[in-house]
Amino acid sequence: MCGIVGYIGEQSTKDFIIDGLKKLEYRGYDSAGVFLFDSKGYLKKCKGKVADLEKKMDDDNLSSCTIGMGHTRWATHGIPNTKNSHPHVSNNGKIFIVHNGIIENYASIKQILIEKGYTFQSETDTEVLVNLIEEVKKSNPELKIGKATQIALNQVVGAFAIVVFDKDSPNELVVAKLGSPLAIGLKGKDFFVGSDPSPFIKETNRCLYLNDYELAILSRKKGLTLRDFRTNRVKDQKIEKLKLQIEQVEKGGFKHFMLKEIFEQPKCINDSLRGRIFSNPAKIKISSVEEYWEKFKKSNRLIFISCGTSWHASLLGEYYFEELARIPVEVEYASEFRYRNPIIYKDDIVIPVSQSGETADTIAALKLAKEMSAFIYGICNVVGSSIARETHTGIYTHAGPEIGVASTKAFTCQAVTMLIIATEIGYKLKKITKSKYSEIIDGVQNLSDNVKKILKKSNKVEEIAKKYSKSKNFLYLGRGYNFPVALEGALKLKEISYIHAEGYPAAEMKHGPIALIDKNMPVVVVATKKGNYKKIVSNVMEIKARGGKVISIVTEGDKEIKKISDDFIEIPECHELISPILANIPLQLLSYYIADFKGCSIDQPRNLAKSVTVE
Ligand code: M6R
Repeated sequence: MCGIVGYIGEQSTKDFIIDGLKKLEYRGYDSAGVFLFDSKGYLKKCKGKVADLEKKMDDDNLSSCTIGMGHTRWATHGIPNTKNSHPHVSNNGKIFIVHNGIIENYASIKQILIEKGYTFQSETDTEVLVNLIEEVKKSNPELKIGKATQIALNQVVGAFAIVVFDKDSPNELVVAKLGSPLAIGLKGKDFFVGSDPSPFIKETNRCLYLNDYELAILSRKKGLTLRDFRTNRVKDQKIEKLKLQIEQVEKGGFKHFMLKEIFEQPKCINDSLRGRIFSNPAKIKISSVEEYWEKFKKSNRLIFISCGTSWHASLLGEYYFEELARIPVEVEYASEFRYRNPIIYKDDIVIPVSQSGETADTIAALKLAKEMSAFIYGICNVVGSSIARETHTGIYTHAGPEIGVASTKAFTCQAVTMLIIATEIGYKLKKITKSKYSEIIDGVQNLSDNVKKILKKSNKVEEIAKKYSKSKNFLYLGRGYNFPVALEGALKLKEISYIHAEGYPAAEMKHGPIALIDKNMPVVVVATKKGNYKKIVSNVMEIKARGGKVISIVTEGDKEIKKISDDFIEIPECHELISPILANIPLQLLSYYIADFKGCSIDQPRNLAKSVTVE
């Protein structure tokens, strides 16, 4: 949940460390800190964001520092303050560490270290780890930092990605990983480290992703050595060529990443569909489905496991798969699934869905399902992420890097991907006709243009947002395919604007939430044509009868609902299965503009982080 960076090489490193931390701030922004080394060593940390840290470093001349590490924190152990900020230093003042993850057995190790005379400045688990490394070295003074770190890591339980530096080995950095992600960028004699490659992408596209249980020593003299820290076995270095471009991780003139990502969606949809969908004749081709067709053919049940927005996309997936492929679907919160002794049958397919591919609960649920012999098909955005690597097979959604904490384009691409998989499986299983198959393919091919049309009307959404930005509560309603969209709209609003919002199936309103409706309660109703349109007209009437304010999302040309709504936003006429994907776009814009009118920290909402790598 934190972001870490490191560097060792021939260049002055302060700017790389600070800029790199800014790129990783989506992972946490409670506090930030750096350690830079020339011949002395410079440690600076503070509560708050990287920009606050940068201000504190303004007058310091650090150009001679060519080794460094940095950390941006999402607090787990200990409140966000300077003492709990990383880097942490060992008692002898020589060993420095930044850490992303959790050391679960830190309390017992801390007790042993206290008995040996160690003292602790912070409440963190990380300070325990750095002192454990010191203690390992102390008990065997011949050990170098790499080996001492290796021995210490074999004594801890938990998850970590770490960068370690020891003043006794000033030409080396040690990095290791278990559970949390870590990437190394290589460029001549320079080594860059990041929780993901975004900090070093402008320097190099040569990247080594560490696997679990790997430890690398980055040495000015000996280059890179990679080992399994359990067995000490030397590992092959699989260096990848990254396709990531620097523009993809910058704001490109938009006020916030979230807005940029909303506006990127027409392109992202095309990226998701590229090479998978064809016309004349209409065809879908998903190689992982083809390769594992026997599994899909005999599957009795699909179980989606996911969290947050990915869970909402999974719920939409349930509607798609049950309608088109006629395979029963369960949609599980990963955090519940992993702890409740789930039942998995032989021919079930478990489908983890995740943008980051690093969500701790989803990974744990996936591993549990794997232990229970389930076949795992992943739907994931981040290439090479932990979930992508743990699954038997799967599909990338190709939304590109999503940096705003509020997920937007990732949801859209997850939904599009699920729709084409469900359509293809349904057709192969003969559950849908050729003409329905072609209609959906047509609709999907027009999706990107239809999203562009909605985005062109963003000014109207902005006006509506202004009108309602002072409201304290919102209700979001939708039926059928639009129910997951109502849930997602409510989540988006609450996470970035801190306005309380609830999503409900529209018909459930009269079983409770209707009691909340009065003139101060805006109700966003996703009321696109087809499906249960007539029923939703009645729901809108019920809200109006109680004085509620209705903001409706309607299909172009709608007459009935527009007339009775206080405000409305139109989306283009489209296939019923596509309409939830389109309807979600104005809801993203609505929450964005409301949060902007309120002056909220949109890309970095309080208490949140982009990837939740702790449970
Ligand atoms: O990376 P994942 O898709 O696994 O993340 C799951 C949730 O943490 C994530 O969707 C979260 O709910 C978003 N902040 C919502 O916008």
